[in-house]
Amino acid sequence: MVSPIQIPDNAPFTPEQRQWLGGFMAQLLVQASGAPLPSGPAVPVTVLFGSQTGTAEGLAKKLVKKLKKGNFEPNMQDMGTYDRDNLSKEKNLLIITSTYGDGEPPDSALELHTWLMSDAPPALAGVSYSVLSLGDSSYPDFCQCGTEFDSRLEALGATRIHPRVDVDVDPDEPYAEWSKAVIAILAPDNGAVESNGTATDEIEEGGFSKKRPFPSAVVKNYNLNGPGPKQTNQVEISLEGSELSYEVGDALGVYPENPEDVVDEIIAALPFRAGEVPTSTGEEVSLREALIRHYDIGNINKSLICKWQKRSGSPYLRSLVEADERKAWENFCWGRDLIDLVLNYPADFTDGEDFVTILKKLQPRLYSIASSPKAHPGEVHLCVGIVRYDSHGRKRGGICSTYLGDRLTDDSKPGVYVHSNNAFRLPADGDVPVIMVGPGTGIAPFRAFLEERKATAAKGKNWLFFGNPHSATDYLYGDELDGFVKDGTLGRLDLAWSRDQKEKVYVQNLMLENGAEMWKWFQEGAAFYVCGDASRMAKDVDAALLSIATEHGKLSDEEAVAYIAQLKKDKRYLRDVY
Ligand SMILES: Cc1cc2nc3c(=O)[nH]c(=O)nc-3n(C[C@H](O)[C@H](O)[C@H](O)COP(=O)(O)OP(=O)(O)OC[C@H]3O[C@@H](n4cnc5c(N)ncnc54)[C@H](O)[C@@H]3O)c2cc1C
Ligand SMILES: NC(=O)c1ccc[n+]([C@@H]2O[C@H](COP(=O)([O-])OP(=O)(O)OC[C@H]3O[C@@H](n4cnc5c(N)ncnc54)[C@H](OP(=O)(O)O)[C@@H]3O)[C@@H](O)[C@H]2O)c1
Ligand SMILES: Cc1cc2nc3c(=O)[nH]c(=O)nc-3n(C[C@H](O)[C@H](O)[C@H](O)COP(=O)(O)O)c2cc1C
Repeated sequence: MVSPIQIPDNAPFTPEQRQWLGGFMAQLLVQASGAPLPSGPAVPVTVLFGSQTGTAEGLAKKLVKKLKKGNFEPNMQDMGTYDRDNLSKEKNLLIITSTYGDGEPPDSALELHTWLMSDAPPALAGVSYSVLSLGDSSYPDFCQCGTEFDSRLEALGATRIHPRVDVDVDPDEPYAEWSKAVIAILAPDNGAVESNGTATDEIEEGGFSKKRPFPSAVVKNYNLNGPGPKQTNQVEISLEGSELSYEVGDALGVYPENPEDVVDEIIAALPFRAGEVPTSTGEEVSLREALIRHYDIGNINKSLICKWQKRSGSPYLRSLVEADERKAWENFCWGRDLIDLVLNYPADFTDGEDFVTILKKLQPRLYSIASSPKAHPGEVHLCVGIVRYDSHGRKRGGICSTYLGDRLTDDSKPGVYVHSNNAFRLPADGDVPVIMVGPGTGIAPFRAFLEERKATAAKGKNWLFFGNPHSATDYLYGDELDGFVKDGTLGRLDLAWSRDQKEKVYVQNLMLENGAEMWKWFQEGAAFYVCGDASRMAKDVDAALLSIATEHGKLSDEEAVAYIAQLKKDKRYLRDVY
């Protein structure tokens, strides 16, 4: 309700006229301010999110904030802690979820997803819903998790009020359109919610952000490895003047630049004269500038090849597109970049403007923050594995890691922003023991965790499993970790040097060797964290945890699975894997 404006008693009106006028003026003021005009009872809306690294959670928060400006009663719920008995009672359900692994749900959404896909859930006849599905089309199972939620809810009798929107990497525009549309459907007279701020405005709030990255200064940048093939850079960035802040567990988004030599090679091979081209921000820049700073010239995917094939007339590409086989796509795309298409499958473009229409926007990369702000005020540290490989006769490098590792100059000001990740936090209670598994660059957030636990004089025990090929060259932060052992911050440190002996030794081997002790820690309430490679290491560590639960916890296979699911639900098993 809008409170009426008080009309002074000495004004020449009757009490009834004064009351009417007060109400009318209040409505006018509200309209002028752009605030919503509530009508009827507030519309209940549950915003249910599934998020691995915080993007879906961030959008859910924005949506709830937006709904609060209108005549809605929003209720934000994390899939990880949502009481599924409430599902059939929901009136309006807005789902925002990402997809992880190979088309899998985020960890926190796994249990709800498994239950929903089973025969257990009730009919959902009274539920109106819509899904915003976050993903990345460079993965073959694009937006799989959101797609499955969407079709299963429909199969269970829920009413889809707006088609699912699949987000390819950059959520801002699709989120803005989807949220506007669902709000209009849920309560058509709540249009004023939009005039109070678009998704983009909300993102812009509070200074530097993904939309408006901070042009940072790199103050230190050096290789943490000794001589050898591996290069892992400690990149120390000053946040001075940015007012950006972060918590341990967050990631830093970094906007890279493409390598100039590859851009020049592409331009030289294109069949038109390079002129000015538009960018996604609306400016006109030279094609060279656009290919360095604005467009993705890295990994290719099915969608790009389909567009390229239409302009190239290559019989090989045509056969690839027509066969449309997953394995064939993967084989072709692996280890190839835009330059391979330009050089080997010449295509017709009228000019640069035409060329860039088929390219995707250059995306920022995320890096788990490797410092605690308490130990390094005003700075943020990253631990960046430099990606290099040879394929199809070329030496290649990952765009962002080689930008940070090789191509920064004294004038470089990498655009950065803080990507908050509430799904990867230290326990609020400093007495809780913590077990961390972070081989390779997976050590990053755990350096930050240890710094934080030391700075806050947390009493809980800390146990770190770290691994890398060789102890002599690859003991990242070795001096610091040894120092943490000496000063008692690290109660246990287990190191898996995979290539120092004939047989590989990995972190999960050391976990299994120490299974009885680990189980004891779990009984004492320990929280378990994993960071690093998603495709192999994180799966093997998960399997090792399961065997520890069966062997040392004496649980049956089903009980062990349930135990681990409960750890996840209780936020005692958290992963930051990539
Ligand atoms: C939440 C999160 C946190 C992260 N934290 C960290 C971190 O702390 N440290 C860190 O180093 N990284 C981290 N990453 C990974 C990081 O974001 C980048 O993905 C990584 O640096 C590679 O980016 P790039 O631009 O250098 O490579 P890209 O240009 O994106 O290229 C990588 C691609 O190159 C191709 N490729 C790689 N190797 C080969 C090969 N041998 N043969 C053929 N093709 C190959 C693959 O297609 C691969 O996907 C994190 C990722 C996420 C999502
Ligand atoms: N998304 C991306 O584009 C991207 C970019 C960078 C890194 N990554 C991934 O992130 C990972 C981190 O890279 P990194 O160089 O820091 O470390 P890494 O390659 O993961 O290697 C760290 C240690 O883990 C070992 N290891 C290999 N397989 C394992 C397994 N199944 N279980 C446990 N340990 C295993 C390695 O041993 P061996 O090498 O001796 O087998 C090495 O000793 C990479 O594996 C890579 O897949 C992805
Ligand atoms: C290791 C990893 C695996 C991913 N797997 C998929 C996938 O199979 N399908 C997909 O569409 N997107 C995939 N993605 C992209 C994420 O869904 C996307 O980045 C999303 O915005 C993340 O949202 P979140 O931060 O809320 O988890 C993957 C991302 C990572 C880092």
